[in-house]
Amino acid sequence: MRPSRRSHPPHHRPTTTTTTTTTTLSLSLCSLLLLSLVSRGQAVQAENVTVQEGGTAQISCRLQNYDGSIVVIQNPRRQTLFFNGTRALKDDRFQMVLFTPRLVRITLTNVSVLDEGGYFCQLYTDDTHHQVATLSVVVPPETPIIEVNQEAVEGGEAKLTCLSPRSKPPASLRWMRNGREIPGTIVVAKELG
Ligand SMILES: *[C@@H]1O[C@H](CO)[C@@H](O)[C@H](O)[C@H]1NC(C)=O
Ligand SMILES: *[C@@H]1O[C@H](CO)[C@@H](O)[C@H](O)[C@H]1NC(C)=O
Ligand SMILES: *[C@@H]1O[C@H](CO)[C@@H](O)[C@H](O)[C@H]1NC(C)=O
Repeated sequence: MRPSRRSHPPHHRPTTTTTTTTTTLSLSLCSLLLLSLVSRGQAVQAENVTVQEGGTAQISCRLQNYDGSIVVIQNPRRQTLFFNGTRALKDDRFQMVLFTPRLVRITLTNVSVLDEGGYFCQLYTDDTHHQVATLSVVVPPETPIIEVNQEAVEGGEAKLTCLSPRSKPPASLRWMRNGREIPGTIVVAKELG
């Protein structure tokens, strides 16, 4: 269709444009009708989020057919953070940044691994709708520390220890000698916490 349209004489163009617009319009109307038929009820939708420790997490809750019902956001311990836009928990790391009929968004600054878990977004209607947004916190590994326990004696044994203070997910450590990996020395550090 497209290549032939390009070769049309100029006076044919308006006709083509009009037809396309009409088709698009009727399609939009059709999908609007479908949407209102399929999702007449209200609904909430939450997204999972992963953030670095110390960073800022954005927790979003999408609303469908919002009618002014109360929206409650709770932390993983089911403590209410926001009661329809009003902060309930005295933790000012939480801020409500957006409350529109389609989207409710809160931010959490200086995220810690203790903040991990499912955040509940609830819509109080006749039948209570809720969704859970899972917050995951990652901790990048710090520079590993190498410990040498004793002075090595020729012909004896030396013990070298490599420590990665904390990371999440666990860091993978490997020994290198003169820029080349020593085979069989890859270990996975212990889980944080
Ligand atoms: C969000 O995370 C939870 C728990 O890890 C998982 O069960 C769920 O499938 C995730 N949802 C999405 C949309 O990825
Ligand atoms: C909840 O907050 C929204 C957004 O500010 C508002 O439109 C709605 O009327 C409130 N609902 C109630 C029951 O107060
Ligand atoms: C961030 O939180 C940690 C504890 O998790 C705290 O020690 C630090 O002071 C906080 N930083 C800021 C800038 O609030």
